[in-house]
Parts: sequence; C-alpha cells; structure tokens
Amino acid sequence: MFVPDAGPARPVEIAPGAVRVPGWLTAERQRELVTACRAWARGPVPLRHTALPNGGVMSVRTVCLGWHWQPYRYSRTADDVNGARVADFPGWLTELGRAALVAAYGESGEAGGTGPAARSYTPDTALINFYDGAARMGMHQDKEERSSAPVVSLSIGDSCLFRLGNTRTRGRPYTDVRLVSGDLFVFGGPARLAYHGVPKVFPGTAGPETGMRGGRLNITLRETGLTG
Ligand code: SIN
Ligand code: MN
Repeated sequence: MFVPDAGPARPVEIAPGAVRVPGWLTAERQRELVTACRAWARGPVPLRHTALPNGGVMSVRTVCLGWHWQPYRYSRTADDVNGARVADFPGWLTELGRAALVAAYGESGEAGGTGPAARSYTPDTALINFYDGAARMGMHQDKEERSSAPVVSLSIGDSCLFRLGNTRTRGRPYTDVRLVSGDLFVFGGPARLAYHGVPKVFPGTAGPETGMRGGRLNITLRETGLTG
C-alpha cells in the first residue's frame, strides 16, 4: 500500500480542475518508480516509438500497463508492436493514483469533479513515456477514455515545459508550467479534456537522486472506462 510521505507538497491550481503538486514524490519513491519502469520497459511489450497513422513516429518512447494505447484507441494487446498482452496494472499504482487525487484536490475531491471519490478512483491504464533531450509531445487531448475521471501525471528526471491549454483548440489561451522531478500534475473536471503537450525538455536538469542517467520519465494514470 502506498503511503505518501509527510512533506511540504502543496497543491497549486493552474486552471479549474488542473493542479500541480510540486515535489510530491520523494526521491525514494522516484527511484522505486524508475526501477519499476525499467522492468516494464523490457516487456512483455518493449518501450518503443509509437507509429502514427500519417507514417511518422512519436518522438517519445512509450510502454503501457493494463490497457495498451495506440493512436487512437485502447486494446489489451499491443497489436501495433508485438501483439503481446500488456503487463497488468498493479494494485500499488491504484493506491498511488488515489493518494495523488487526495493530494491535488483534498479528501472531498470536488475540484476534480470526482465527488468524495478519490477512494473509488480506479485507474486501469498507465502510459509510461520516456523523453530524451529532443523529444516533444504536441498539443492533444486525452480523449480515448470513456471515463471522465481525472488523469494523474507523475514526472521524474529532467524538467520540462508542460503546456496546459483550453478544451476547444490547440492554440491560445494556454498556461506554461515547468514540471520538475517529483511533481504531480492532475487534470480532471473542467480541465479533463484540455489540450496539453510538452514543447520542451531541459536536458541535464535532473539531480542524481532519481537513478536516471538522463531524460524525462512521465507516467500518466487514467481510467479507461472499458471492460473486458
Ligand atoms: C501525456 O500527455 O500523455 C504526457 C504528458 C507529459 O509528458 O507530461
Ligand atoms: Mn496526454
């Protein structure tokens, strides 16, 4: 069971429903996540650049748990990679997701539109993205999920510029936030379908304590709302 460490982490509202909690993950927790991600990156589905329908590939490398995401749907098997069933979504990551909602929105969870329900948050997919110094992520919505539950995002390693936009267009208005190692970012409620992206990673900005040799790791937890 995940027990968040007592610490100075204080939520900062970036927009209604979108909350950053700086330094929420301790260095130890970050190292544990890095170790877990290294294991998941080895299989059953390897960390790889996702192929896009236009023939390109995403610059980040990704591996999924629970449900496999490919543009633009979820499946249990990684049909665009090696056909293997993705690794199970572990119970401890569910606990981490619930603790993240409490940290971001408080026990009531009202700001995230989840009601009193951080306790019933049941993420069933994780997208693990690895960014080298040149990787980016264009503005997009997370909209393949049928559930309206919040997205929980954890950042480890190099800092990045995270852009939180609006729900209508990829363009302005948007807010740029620097996410650093250990930060939690949650977007739910009115921000759940906000466009967002990562225009820049800042190489060499992580300390040695994460155990990463470079680059940025981002883990997003989501409820797909799918069964089967
Ligand atoms: C994502 O939008 O899936 C990832 C965002 C991030 O890397 O911070
Ligand atoms: Mn996203």
